[in-house]
Amino acid sequence: MSMWRRVDRWFTIVIAALVCLTCGGWLWLLADWGTPPNPKHGSSTVSSETFQTPITPTPQPAPADPRKLALGAALFDDPRLFDTGKLACVSCHDLRTNGASASRFDQLAGAPVSDNTPTVFNAALNFRLDWNGDEHSLEDQVLSALRAHGTMANSPRQVTVRLNQAADLGSRFKAAYGRPADRKNLVDAIATFERSLTTPGSRFDRWLAGDTAALSDVELRGYHDFQSMGCIDCHQGANVGGNLFERSGIFHPLTDSGSILLRVPSLRNVATTAPYFHDGSAPTLAEAVRRMASAQLNRTLTDQQDHEIVAFLGTLTGDYDGSPVRKPAQ
Ligand code: HEC
Ligand code: HEC
Repeated sequence: MSMWRRVDRWFTIVIAALVCLTCGGWLWLLADWGTPPNPKHGSSTVSSETFQTPITPTPQPAPADPRKLALGAALFDDPRLFDTGKLACVSCHDLRTNGASASRFDQLAGAPVSDNTPTVFNAALNFRLDWNGDEHSLEDQVLSALRAHGTMANSPRQVTVRLNQAADLGSRFKAAYGRPADRKNLVDAIATFERSLTTPGSRFDRWLAGDTAALSDVELRGYHDFQSMGCIDCHQGANVGGNLFERSGIFHPLTDSGSILLRVPSLRNVATTAPYFHDGSAPTLAEAVRRMASAQLNRTLTDQQDHEIVAFLGTLTGDYDGSPVRKPAQ
């Protein structure tokens, strides 16, 4: 009898110890997740291996079949995708500058489109595409663009007929896919190319990897504000956005569209992509940050806080094809 009582007590102690260990482990994990490198005191011993921050570095593009990649790049630049014969994807998404344009609204067949053009850089890292996040994959987004969804007045079938008639492209489709152009391989080639458009190498990513000299004091204070005010609750992950749906205009109206549900946009390369918001209504980053703080967080920023956050956002500019992403000429 007493032996059983002793076994019973030991059993209780072992279970209690296991419960403590499990809870402790979870608390430790949670604490680690919530503790990015302390910006105030630098991070000389910090590396991306030891810290899980809410923002993670921009990955290098995954390897892809070079023939599909080159075909996708050529199509991105090819006006034969459009009825007008003048526009190409690149007309609104300029890859030599910011992957978008400097206009508030780009023109399609002489009329302005209804939304500001988002950058195609790092679009592959967004969980949904377009401002309202309606498109679930790059492939769907290309199809919707081809179906005159605000961007092109063409249908995918008409486009493939035209591409197969063009001797140069018809043979490239056969070389890359073993068959002539069809809806599936047209969309695949463009999406494959878009997946190569990530922009690693920003100063912020270098800092995340342990290079303490990569950010100035003002930029670090801006990152601290960005976290402590709660911007990071919506703008986070590898794309500093692009992984959540949130309302635009929670506490106060942000734009004339009222309180609408949008995919939170990425802030990668944001210093180069003025004007801002889906309606392009903020001409400068300083204005966009001030309006965000008020509309989304009910906060009025001081000029200094605004300046610091803008400085931090400037560190999110990465490289494409060996050069920094840059603002287009006005
Ligand atoms: C006339 C200008 C224009 C042209 C040409 C154009 N786009 Fe766009 N693109 C836009 C606009 C505007 C949006 C936002 C549409 C929306 O939110 O409904 C967009 C959105 C996108 C997005 C989503 C980005 C994101 O992060 O959500 C991708 C990817 C994209 N376009 C790729 C392309 C490709 C590929 C082509 C060529 C087949 C193309 N675009 C042609 C203006 C254009
Ligand atoms: C509750 C979620 C949420 C919070 C918090 C939030 N944002 Fe945003 N942010 C959004 C959404 C949604 C948009 C798109 C708004 C639109 O286009 O109408 C946006 C857009 C932006 C843009 C414009 C991006 C572009 O390409 O046009 C910037 C810059 C920005 N936010 C910075 C910030 C900063 C800085 C903070 C903190 C002061 C912040 N955000 C807090 C959800 C949020």
